[in-house]
Amino acid sequence: MTMEEASKHGPLHFELNTGAKMPSVGLGTWRAPAGEVGAAVIAAVKAGYRHIDCARVYDNEKEVGEALKELFSTGVVKRSEIWITSKLWCSDHLPEDVSKALSKSLEDLQLDYVDLYLIHWPFRTKPGSTGWNPDVFAPPCLPETWAAMEGLYASGQARAIGVSNFSTKKLQDLLTYAKVPPAVNQVECHPVWQQPALHNLCQSTSVHLSAYSPLGSPGTWVKGEILKEPILIEIAEKLSKSPAQVALRWGIQSGHSVLPKSVNESRIKENLNLFDWCIPPDLFSKFSAIHQQRLLRGNCAIHESRSPYKSLEELWDGEI
Ligand code: A2P
Repeated sequence: MTMEEASKHGPLHFELNTGAKMPSVGLGTWRAPAGEVGAAVIAAVKAGYRHIDCARVYDNEKEVGEALKELFSTGVVKRSEIWITSKLWCSDHLPEDVSKALSKSLEDLQLDYVDLYLIHWPFRTKPGSTGWNPDVFAPPCLPETWAAMEGLYASGQARAIGVSNFSTKKLQDLLTYAKVPPAVNQVECHPVWQQPALHNLCQSTSVHLSAYSPLGSPGTWVKGEILKEPILIEIAEKLSKSPAQVALRWGIQSGHSVLPKSVNESRIKENLNLFDWCIPPDLFSKFSAIHQQRLLRGNCAIHESRSPYKSLEELWDGEI
């Protein structure tokens, strides 16, 4: 079955408020190690992925860029056929640093534009700092950062702009001052953290909700066990699909793009095999009984005196 034939069970794309069509499954590259991420990108694109989710802080954009160059030069895919997202790290929030940060990502990715550029987190760290620790926090300047993001959108270097890790309240605040509304809020979202309030706000304001860690990042420090969730396993058995596929399909049927990370070719293929079946309503309704739990809590962004966020309650505005 071709992807086009499969699209009757789609959607293969979500239309953003810019009019652009973002492919509904993207390959996640967070924690995709050096020496493996390039091969994963090539395997994914050859398997049919048309969306790669990157970020400067993942420290692997150079290798992703090499893989993209190979895919373009060998004619596997054209630049115009693939969606590339990157993200502005917290140390680059000062307006004068925003454009330089995108230029560095573009240089590493060997591209002249990204399809989507996101503010990675709603807090700022000192210019030049890496990582998170209490010494690096700096006063937030989100309205100024957003204005600089709008400049990138106007220049065409970022064909859409958005945010990541914004709570419902932080997204509402941004919408009050944005001249260009964010196209996307990329957040943790999966059957164990369904984000209903944020989902509703995104639907009503035409901001697309894109789901990172859609499998709960199993096998990492995140300790997500969502693939062992009994309701998910029960539904997977009924549909003869894997729990991972059911988690991803739940995201797509909820209207979210999903960004599963894998560096394993067979799991990369498995994670795209979502379009010739669907979760019927009687099984879909069972997801509401799953116990909810935020897995990626952002503890590193919290500090009693030095961070703008003194507690997880403040970081997530109570959505914890
Ligand atoms: P691997 O890269 O070895 O495939 P998330 O996207 O939620 O962050 O989850 C990514 C994690 O889930 C990675 O450790 C990845 O390992 C693993 N993973 C990816 N796809 C699947 C799958 N279909 N089934 C089980 N684990 C998966």
